[in-house]
Parts: sequence; C-alpha cells; structure tokens
Amino acid sequence: MTRPWTGVIHHYHNYLPFSEETKIVTLNEGNTPLIEAPRLANLIAPDAGLRLFLKYEGLNPTGSFKDRGMTAAITQAVAEGAQTVICASTGNTAASAAAYAARAGIRCLVLVPEGKIALGKLAASLAYGAEVISVDGSFDDALEMVRAIVERQPIELVNSINPWRLEGQKTGAFEICDQLGGRAPDWHCLPVGNAGNITSYWMGYKQYEKGLPRILGGQAAGSAPIVLGRVVEKPETIATAIRIGNPARWRQALEALDESDGQITAVTDEDILASWQLLAKSEGIFVEPASATGVAALKQQIAAGELDPTNKTAVCVLTGHGLKDPDTAVKLAAPPVTLPAELSALESYLAS
Ligand code: F0G
Repeated sequence: MTRPWTGVIHHYHNYLPFSEETKIVTLNEGNTPLIEAPRLANLIAPDAGLRLFLKYEGLNPTGSFKDRGMTAAITQAVAEGAQTVICASTGNTAASAAAYAARAGIRCLVLVPEGKIALGKLAASLAYGAEVISVDGSFDDALEMVRAIVERQPIELVNSINPWRLEGQKTGAFEICDQLGGRAPDWHCLPVGNAGNITSYWMGYKQYEKGLPRILGGQAAGSAPIVLGRVVEKPETIATAIRIGNPARWRQALEALDESDGQITAVTDEDILASWQLLAKSEGIFVEPASATGVAALKQQIAAGELDPTNKTAVCVLTGHGLKDPDTAVKLAAPPVTLPAELSALESYLAS
C-alpha cells in the first residue's frame, strides 16, 4: 500500500529546514496533478512536438498554490509562539493564511484592496474566520501597511517576504520533476505578481538538481513593473490576483530570469482571457483569469518566434481555481438558455 499523502512538509522533509520535533500545521496540501494538454499544445504550436503539461495548483485545499508556502509559514510562526498573523493580499494569500491560521487556532488579519478581490477569495477568508480589512488603496499600499505594523507589534507577517513561504512553495518544483519522471521541463511558465512564486520555483529547481528549466514569466500588461523596469503606480488588469505595481521579490525574479536564461513578457487582458477560455474549452480546466497568464505568455512567445517549441517540454503553472472568480466567468459567458419545463421545448431547442 502506498503511504497516504500528508502534505508537502512531510513529503519533502529532507529538503526543508524543519526539525523532526516541529509540529506541522498542514491541510495535506500539494500532490496536485500535472496534466498533459495535447489539444492545447497543438493549438499553440501546431505539429511542433511540444509536450505541454499543466500543474493544476487550483486543486490545493484552499484552491490556490499559496497553500504550499502557507503550511511552512504558519508552522514556523506557531513554533516561534506567534498568536497573530497578518498579510496583504489580492485574495489567495488571504484565504490560505486564514485557513492555516484557523487550523492552528491563531488570529489572522488580512488586508485586501477595496473592491478588487474576487468573490470566492473574500467568501473563503470570511468563512475561515479571518478579520478581513478592506483598504482603500492597492495591494502595494496594503503591503506597505502590514510591513510597517509588524515592526511595531508582535504580529507575524505571512506574505512571501517571509522566507518560510518560499521554503514551502519551492516544493512545487520538486513535484514537477518527480511527476516528469525525475527531470525538469525545458520551459517553466507562470504568472508573476508579487514574484514570490517565480523566486520559489527557481530555488526549488536549483536545490533538487534534476536539471534546470528556462523560466518564462507573464505579467498583465497593465500591471507589468518588471517588464517595464519601473514601479506601476496604478496597476490595472482583469486578473486581479496579479494587480501589483511594485513586487516585493522583484530582484529575485530578475535573478531567476537571468540565471535560467529566461524571459518575462507582458500579455494583454484579452490574451489572458483567450488563454483562460482555451484552458476551459479545449482541456476542461477551469482556472481564475490570472492563472492563464503563463499559458498566454507561452502562446505569445511561440507565435512571435521568440521561443522554439520543437520537441520541447513545457510546464505551465495554473495557480488558482476558476471558482475563485465566478463573477468574471459569468460576465464573460453568454447567459444560460431558459426553457419551459416541457420535453417539446427541449426538442425544439435541439432542432434550432
Ligand atoms: N496567480 C494567482 C492566482 C495569484 O493569486 C498570485 C498572487 C499569482 C499568480 C502571482 O504570484 O505574487 O508569487 O508572483 N497572489 C498574491 C495574493 C499576491 O495576495 O494572493 P506571485
């Protein structure tokens, strides 16, 4: 019998700086599927022999990749005696922090940008019992506030500035290598917001020593500080998860791009939504819009001739579940057809 999966810290214990005695706070996160996407591969690189895999991080316990880092950050916070944690968030970090804090029985405050957090993330944060504070400003403003408060009060910060978040998050790279049979892909594509995830993946690939991919990051065109090389004061994008103008891990993101001979590119909201739709309609995988940014970046770079897909393996990380942002999904689709509850009505609908 195979051993039951009990979360990323247990599974990758030898690669993480926790002692045997540490009491681990886990919701059995990780072990998410790596799904091959041949239809999508053929749509974005016809007949090129591209093997495209989707790392479906939306299937983590709170519906996003954040749970990998949060199990580590909350485990460490509790080990150090913290009774309150805080984060700024576009929503997913908030939901994840709220869940793991609930699991640990500690207080959790989350600061979110007013009106710019998707419904599923707000619902979950509230349900887990976090104190949700809506800030009349951007994610970047909220991050500044939480950075300042932890200097003044005994509260633990669980944004990805916290190094334990990266420790847990890097297990995504280990899993991808394991799922590909003990090797890294040629290209690793992902959305970039606050740049914690790109930093963690690169750390993970380097530590695991199964080969190194080239990293392809995607930013939304209206929120692309790293691509532009300057802070964006008023970031905008439909992909609210990555509506960030001054990423905390900017420098480390540049290092990952440089060391991996990678690239970062800006994709328009239209391109993000086109890839979001392709994922759902050609592969049956429903993600939140930001999560399609890695696919959009790959598609763009192949179409522009910047990336040769011939016989390559690419992994796109799908960072959050589609149910996180039901409003956008419903707004973009045609409304359902309404029929009387009669068989004849269904028959005439089918004939029309
Ligand atoms: N995709 C999703 C769904 C996200 O929620 C985020 C970040 C990213 C991608 C980008 O990852 O910040 O590590 O570069 N969400 C953060 C949050 C900012 O507060 O939930 P990153």
